[in-house]
Amino acid sequence: MKEQLAKIRAEALAAFSSAQTAAELDALRVQYLGKKGELTAVLKQMGRLSAEERPVMGQLANEVRAALEQALEEMGSKLEEAALDAQLKAETVDVTIPGNVQKIGHKHPMYIALDEIKDIFVGMGFTVLDGPEIELASYNFDKLNAEEGHPSRDWSDTFYFDKDSRVMLRSQTSPMQVRAMETMELPIRIIAPGRVYRKDEVDATHSPMFHQVEGMVIDKGVTMADLKGTLNTVIEKLYGEGTITRFRPHHFPFTEPSCEMDIQCHKCGGHGCPTCKGEGWIEVLGAGMIHPNVLRMSGIDPEEYSGWAFGMGLERMAMGRFKIADLRLIFENDVRFLEQF
Ligand code: DAH
Repeated sequence: MKEQLAKIRAEALAAFSSAQTAAELDALRVQYLGKKGELTAVLKQMGRLSAEERPVMGQLANEVRAALEQALEEMGSKLEEAALDAQLKAETVDVTIPGNVQKIGHKHPMYIALDEIKDIFVGMGFTVLDGPEIELASYNFDKLNAEEGHPSRDWSDTFYFDKDSRVMLRSQTSPMQVRAMETMELPIRIIAPGRVYRKDEVDATHSPMFHQVEGMVIDKGVTMADLKGTLNTVIEKLYGEGTITRFRPHHFPFTEPSCEMDIQCHKCGGHGCPTCKGEGWIEVLGAGMIHPNVLRMSGIDPEEYSGWAFGMGLERMAMGRFKIADLRLIFENDVRFLEQF
């Protein structure tokens, strides 16, 4: 039995030390120390020994078990360490490898201009409204004092959805004036940016879809001087102090009096160049004092309240702001162009 124990000890220790993985080591543990293991099998024969031999063998067997257990433990932690080393090596991050450059986009120049415009108006106490692009002709025309037969209502100018010309793609943001008057408490100070649609061919200054920013103020005692003062302030904030504007008389069905506002050409300073088509001035918006009929149709008494409104072309504002010469660049989404802003 003594020899048997010595053999198991030697074999087991050799086997343990050559184990490559924790699983292999565990299998060896079972093989030698498990319930049906080799050492256990030897111990089962203890009963056959004499009373003198038994304690001697018992002690020897315990020593062998202790030696094997210790070897197992040592080998176990050695393998664990090796496994961790291997894992760390496999997962090493080489911090010296140059990173992948992440291309992050940015706002479209027109929306940069819009955000600036919104900031300026919000700073002056205006609320920003959003409204439908599919609009009723009654809002786009009737309630804005543009009667049946008004040229802008023509099928050659406007995208209608039905043969009765009742539903359309809005051709201006001005219907937002009516929507504001119908739903908001007086006094009102709003701007309403958004897309508008007209049957125009695409060229350097036209597109069948473009953007406007509508603005409106209604209160007691509001005058044309407030309109001019507000718009001049906005333009100076956008284009820089000292930017020169001029107001020209014009006609719109929903304002009386009506005007258009031009800014002096940023390219040539008013001398005339290709950007301003030789005129020295660039038209940026239509405006005026809200027509009493328009106020009345939306339930506001023109004897008590007055107001002004404007509609500016957002693309034009952005073109002026960033000195862009061709409207098509704004819509083509060529990154080589857009990256500049
Ligand atoms: N809606 C007009 C257009 O599209 C622009 C405009 C002019 C808007 C005068 C207004 C305004 O609010 O008062 O040409």
